[in-house]
Amino acid sequence: MPTIEFTCPDGSCRTVEARPGASVMETAVKLGVPGIVGECGGGLSCATCHVFVDVDQIDLTGRATDFEEEMLEDAVTPPTELSRLSCQVTMTDALDGLRVTIAKEQQ
Ligand code: FES
Repeated sequence: MPTIEFTCPDGSCRTVEARPGASVMETAVKLGVPGIVGECGGGLSCATCHVFVDVDQIDLTGRATDFEEEMLEDAVTPPTELSRLSCQVTMTDALDGLRVTIAKEQQ
């Protein structure tokens, strides 16, 4: 299974295995990775699943869509060009080793 390496808001790192087809948000919430809230359950309406993708991997995940960018403008932690809503990033084998940093504040 592909792995995701999370850098958590407290600076600690956690590597987990993800089920292909699950989103990064679903994976984090299911496995108890701290920092991703996922309040709307992936409905693209809360922006509490904000992560920053590693600069070397942003082309693999793709950039935020226009609507996602609008949502990110309402995120508590200001977005950057590496920001994604993690409910919109679906894990595949091609994303094995994905590295994301969780936004420090989500609510
Ligand atoms: S979980 Fe709500 S926008 Fe991602």
